[in-house]
Amino acid sequence: MEGSFKLPKLVPKQKKDLELPRFDWASIAKQKKLGSGSFGSVYLAKHAGTAQNVVVKKLKSVSIDSQTRFVEEAKILNSVKGHRNISKFLGFCSEPHSIMMQYSRFDFGFFGVEKSVSSLADFLQFVDTEFEFSSVANLLPVCVKDILAGLDYLHNHNIAHRDLKPGNILVCNQHLDDVAGDDKAMAKAYEECPIVCQLTDFGLSRSVDIQTNHEDLKRADMWSLGLVMHIMINPDLGSPYRAELEQSSAPDIHMALKDLLTKHRLPQHGAKYEQLRITSWWQLEDIFNRCANFDAMARPSTAEMLCLINKSLVNYLTPPPNDLVLTTRLHRKYPKDGQLQISPTISSVYLHVSSYCARAALPDFTPALCYLPNDLAPFLHKEHYDLMYAKLGLRFAQNL
Ligand SMILES: Nc1ncnc2c1ncn2[C@@H]1O[C@H](COP(=O)(O)OP(=O)(O)OP(=O)(O)O)[C@@H](O)[C@H]1O
Ligand SMILES: [Mg+2]
Repeated sequence: MEGSFKLPKLVPKQKKDLELPRFDWASIAKQKKLGSGSFGSVYLAKHAGTAQNVVVKKLKSVSIDSQTRFVEEAKILNSVKGHRNISKFLGFCSEPHSIMMQYSRFDFGFFGVEKSVSSLADFLQFVDTEFEFSSVANLLPVCVKDILAGLDYLHNHNIAHRDLKPGNILVCNQHLDDVAGDDKAMAKAYEECPIVCQLTDFGLSRSVDIQTNHEDLKRADMWSLGLVMHIMINPDLGSPYRAELEQSSAPDIHMALKDLLTKHRLPQHGAKYEQLRITSWWQLEDIFNRCANFDAMARPSTAEMLCLINKSLVNYLTPPPNDLVLTTRLHRKYPKDGQLQISPTISSVYLHVSSYCARAALPDFTPALCYLPNDLAPFLHKEHYDLMYAKLGLRFAQNL
């Protein structure tokens, strides 16, 4: 019968309000591209509403799947935005899919150098190529404290980052703008807080509640944290395993890396920053040693690492020239007359002994197995012996 057929009426689905703060794409004036990854392009922009410089991350793909993931990223950023070590989310826009964030930058202008960087990766590379790293070496333990505080906050909220790397860690010192021009206030502000790090790029993050194995994802983050430490204490290498991969004869880089990982080989350290590694950056090497563990169950939690770095920062003072470091590695090292002395293999124990702290980095450290090589004795003062006894239970004939 004519006219009895009717096309079905499409009933629009009730879309849940995302409950995200919104911004209008028209309110954004793009200024320059800061980065471009596999999923998004990141721009520095001016926001008409606030007249502020902001960062806008715009999704490249229009596939439903990537849009869903992008909304997920915005939701996570929004849920953790109050923390000082997480990049600050300002708003979401769905036409086109984009996220607005506070612009974070580390301005070298405060040091008289016309340059600013935003990621820890760029910071490490710029300082390594342009300056003596020792001039800002003490900034790295501060960064680690921030990175750990951010990751600890995420893990406590059951969120795994899943893509922790120096390119996804922002560095900033904008708080110094407030005291620019006042030398005394600047010196104080810099001493109190020379740098702030913030975790960003939650594109791969997931709430671990929806995953079957919560703890595994957190432990995977701890492995990544270990590799971040490796990059920080070897800023000239750029990435872990780089030296090994360059020497490898494997047909392609992925095969070579797979081979190294299957053999449970940890990335080697470079020689360039050896001295800083055993003096200003020993905490970072310690965290690397503990987190870059092929046995995932043996990796520490963020809380344990935070405790370690907080304690060491309180105790940490620039080491006096007579500091001594014994390592488990191929040899022991100790500074003498401003030079790093290196001597042959001696011990299976790693010790860092300065006038301020004594610590052993091996989990199976046993005081009874330690002995003190005679030629090192002249470098130790009574306070060193007292510390080794108080902190590590080591009692040597010299201080009995
Ligand atoms: N809030 C911000 N302030 C300043 N710079 C930023 C900000 N967010 C991101 N950037 C810059 O843009 C780069 C890429 O950002 P992000 O990692 O979020 O994007 P992505 O598309 O996921 O990139 P990739 O795939 O390379 O990880 C960062 O390394 C940093 O240099
Ligand atoms: Mg990224």
